[in-house]
Amino acid sequence: MMQEIDRTSIHPWWLRMVHWLNAAAVIILILSGWQIYNATGFMGFKFPPQVTLGRWLGGGIMWHFAAMWLLWATAFFYLVMATFTGRWKRQFWPVSPGGILRDLKDTFTGKLSHADLRVYNYVQKAVYLFVMLDIVVLICSGLVLWKPVQFPTLRTVLGDYEGARLIHFIAMVVMCGFIVVHVVMALLVPKTIKAMLWGR
Ligand code: HEM
Repeated sequence: MMQEIDRTSIHPWWLRMVHWLNAAAVIILILSGWQIYNATGFMGFKFPPQVTLGRWLGGGIMWHFAAMWLLWATAFFYLVMATFTGRWKRQFWPVSPGGILRDLKDTFTGKLSHADLRVYNYVQKAVYLFVMLDIVVLICSGLVLWKPVQFPTLRTVLGDYEGARLIHFIAMVVMCGFIVVHVVMALLVPKTIKAMLWGR
């Protein structure tokens, strides 16, 4: 098992790099996705044009595809690095429903410790694993929307084109919810942002 090279950092260099590139990709994907969505408004409403990216459908699609490659690259890089450095086990294991409930209670009663930023509490572990799963769902449903003929099995599993479109939308809403909570939590403990930026 390859060891983390930078032992003095709270978060290793590769994680910090991949985290911010991934965050940029996700934000571009959401804003350009709203532009693309506005062409149909299939959920019965439209996003205000001021919060969309790309100015028109074609522009939105170009931003969306460009950021899609960045998301792929960061997700793949994270997957490889987290596997070879043993990060999965170290940061995200163990995780249990009982532990999540206990840490949730401690969060709301102000008892949760942030003394060691290297160690994630059970709520962090569960939420980060959940958002990674959400990214997988976004990528899979996005693949079906992009190339429905080339991915017939995935298309069938996701309920055909319309099913994949709905799943893609719901996964986007979940991601927006995550970002709001994640950013508020990070701002409440600003030293975590410093650690994710500079490593210490
Ligand atoms: C926009 C999409 C974003 C996604 C998908 C995302 C996802 C994640 C994930 C999965 C982790 C855990 C990674 C690991 O330890 O292996 C993490 C950590 C972290 N993120 Fe984000 N993030 C996003 C945006 C942001 C933003 C905008 C901020 C700053 C305000 C931020 C601040 C942090 C911090 C400080 C951590 C360190 C862990 C902690 O102390 O809780 N993230 N993020």
